[in-house]
Amino acid sequence: MPSKDKVKELRLLKAKALLGGGQDRIDKHHGKGKYTARERIVKLLDPGTFVELDAFVMHRCTDFNMEKKRILGDGVVTGYGRITGRLVYIFSQDFTVFGGSLGEMFAEKICKVMDLALKNGAPVIGFNDSGGARIQEGVVSLGGYAEIFFRNVMSSGVIPQISAIMGPCAGGAVYSPAMTDFIMMVDNTSHMFITGPEVIKTVTGEDVTFEALGGAMTHNTKSGVAHFVAKDENDCINMIKKLLSYMPQNNLETTPHVDTTDDPNRMDEKLKTIIPTDPNQPYDMRDVVKCIIDNGEFFEVHPYWAKNLIIGFARLNGYAIGVVGNQPNQLAGTLDIKSSIKGARFVRFCDAFNIPLLTFVDVPGFLPGINQEYGGIIRNGSKLLYAFCEATVPKMTVITRKAYGGAYDVMCSKHIRADINLAWPTSEIAVMGPDGAVNIVFRKELAGAEDKKKKHEELVTEYRKKFASPYHAAERGYIDDVIEPQETRPRLINALGTLLGKREPRPKKKHGNIPL
Ligand code: HXC
Repeated sequence: MPSKDKVKELRLLKAKALLGGGQDRIDKHHGKGKYTARERIVKLLDPGTFVELDAFVMHRCTDFNMEKKRILGDGVVTGYGRITGRLVYIFSQDFTVFGGSLGEMFAEKICKVMDLALKNGAPVIGFNDSGGARIQEGVVSLGGYAEIFFRNVMSSGVIPQISAIMGPCAGGAVYSPAMTDFIMMVDNTSHMFITGPEVIKTVTGEDVTFEALGGAMTHNTKSGVAHFVAKDENDCINMIKKLLSYMPQNNLETTPHVDTTDDPNRMDEKLKTIIPTDPNQPYDMRDVVKCIIDNGEFFEVHPYWAKNLIIGFARLNGYAIGVVGNQPNQLAGTLDIKSSIKGARFVRFCDAFNIPLLTFVDVPGFLPGINQEYGGIIRNGSKLLYAFCEATVPKMTVITRKAYGGAYDVMCSKHIRADINLAWPTSEIAVMGPDGAVNIVFRKELAGAEDKKKKHEELVTEYRKKFASPYHAAERGYIDDVIEPQETRPRLINALGTLLGKREPRPKKKHGNIPL
């Protein structure tokens, strides 16, 4: 049995470790409206489940008098715990210790939990709040970052990785979060950038504030780097828990089923009236999605970026699904560079983690424009096509209205191996919309017509009657059934029930070559 003194020493050391950079720095941190690294962990995990590792680790740097400043834990709190009973590994950078900057031992602590998470098949959650590479440790800290980056890649597609940005995250340090599956940022208190405002001013002469350059809304609306914005730290922590609930522990498992109170046979009459009579009128695809999924609970991912495509998580009869849908009220629901990238990454996440995909289609085509062409819509648009082709999870598709041209193929059509394709009677499945088609096919007739406008209208009506329907596609079996909108929920639940055991082997390869 250890002597009382030994136990006292241990307890003192542990109490000291809990204080990180000291009470003054903690108070300063709280003064900025922020939780400490430990408080964030405690709020995220089920009560009493956090097990800390490496609380005694300290740096071994001797430059810049660093040997006189050794702090237990070295600026990052690491360990594991449970969220709704499920194991997660966690690291939380402590800004009160050397500004949360990353040195050799700090990096080793993060690598240890990443290794454990990968071995034990559990998600990793990282709270980032750091001044970046610890300047005093020089190249050793760069090596530390690279060890983390390597592990991010090894874990990608094997265990879910979630990054919460709670403060600064700058320079090459941003690349670890960037390679994780989802990034959350807290409004007004978190920043991400490769080079800060001062460097930018020197190099390019541009004036920009921290917030405008790398704040939460910048990365949620402009760059698409972040997937979620939280209004404060509590909101961020709740969003992590919710996000995690849709994911399995690893790529060999499925997301835990959750009993639902929503009747699987519920027919929502509202679905009959969402699609406007005029095919050129917009509507909100989220209204369609919410009428169909369990209790209308749609956890939207990237809600502020590339809004012409909606993506997010939901449940159907208690099974987690990934939803992808064109959004007719933004850019008429066309696919462009950003939305293709947004959709592709989400589809690949769902496929990697056995989350069935449900796709809603109302797409008039790809967005025309010189900027789109110069920006590489060919290369970027093909990402979404590639991702849908590659995905072997259950794939269900519902066409609500337009499905034109190449975009029809891209949006999880039968030809790229969707399992179940349904269409509403309002569907228009064709090579292109009536206007464009008439202008091309009947160019000569139109040129020779006395009343061009009248002739055009007549031809459009004729074309619409003939081609702008689901029945030509259904004749070929490209659509499995044309259904009334209110039947959609029961039909999809029934279909999903048949697909849960789906196996679709593909040729063995090292990896594909998605057009990046
Ligand atoms: C060592 C650091 C540090 C760092 C901050 N600190 N960043 N120590 N290495 N990188 C220390 C400060 O010296 C200070 O210590 C304490 O942390 C708090 O910092 P403050 O500046 O007082 O805080 P604040 O005003 O809130 O500003 C936070 C900050 C700023 C914006 C993060 O500290 C900052 O700009 N830091 C440098 C950021 C940077 O350029 N990092 C390198 C990026 S490149 P004392 O003891 O005085 O309180 C990079 C490469 C990664 O990271 C490459 C990966 C491949």
